[in-house]
Amino acid sequence: MRKQLPPDMLARDSRFVRTSIMDQVMDPRNQKIGERDLGSARLQPERPAAADRARNLMHGIFTGEIQALEGAGRTTFDFDDDEAPFALKLDMARQCWDESRHVEISVKLGDWMGTEIGEYSEAVFLYEAACAPDPVLRLCGVNRALEGLAIDVFNTMKEFGDSSGDPVLEFCEDWMLADEVTHVKMGSDWLRRMTKDDPERLEKALEFQRTVDKLFSLGGFRGETEDNPIQLARNFRSMAGFSTDEIDEIAELAAQAKRDAEALVAGSS
Ligand SMILES: [Fe+2]
Ligand SMILES: [Fe+2]
Repeated sequence: MRKQLPPDMLARDSRFVRTSIMDQVMDPRNQKIGERDLGSARLQPERPAAADRARNLMHGIFTGEIQALEGAGRTTFDFDDDEAPFALKLDMARQCWDESRHVEISVKLGDWMGTEIGEYSEAVFLYEAACAPDPVLRLCGVNRALEGLAIDVFNTMKEFGDSSGDPVLEFCEDWMLADEVTHVKMGSDWLRRMTKDDPERLEKALEFQRTVDKLFSLGGFRGETEDNPIQLARNFRSMAGFSTDEIDEIAELAAQAKRDAEALVAGSS
């Protein structure tokens, strides 16, 4: 079997529509991820677009779950034991089990919310981050940055399920959130274990994580104010092995991304 499977070889049926996250971000018509896909303010049931925004977001999570399964699966196979310890591969195998369950939950949740598979496009950014040649970069880009973002999304959507009177949404989010905290914690623990004697490798991995975090903070998508659709989940992130300084850094990245977006809009009007 081939090692390092490129994103264009992922198996998808004809329902799925592929798009590039960079095409979306760099398209001048879409300068603000938040406004394009999800609105520019916190999800609230009384807002008319809330239901569509929630369906779009959960379809994105569904495709992310498939890629998280594929990425964790690749890490069990792509490396020899001296590059990725066997115990790490066991953790990744356990993660595959969780992600398969999340895919099933997401398909059923999509049915419940009235969304068809392929109704929204799929960007394979998560899988691309899982193609990094160093397993430590994968742990930072996928487990810590993107599944860290999943913690923020699930926590926000769980609250939205509660406030909109939808217990199906609320409990689906709650169950997936619990697993995601363990995935991010695995990323944090393995990152520290595998780089304890290699500060250069640690810094390179954290830099990759910052790049991914910044991309997903664009336009104020994630943050800590009423203007951010997705709220930074400080409690769950600390349970997942993030230090307060690291959470503060993500909050600052998010605030900076929002200031950049506002400056861009002011400059173009
Ligand atoms: Fe997941
Ligand atoms: Fe996960």
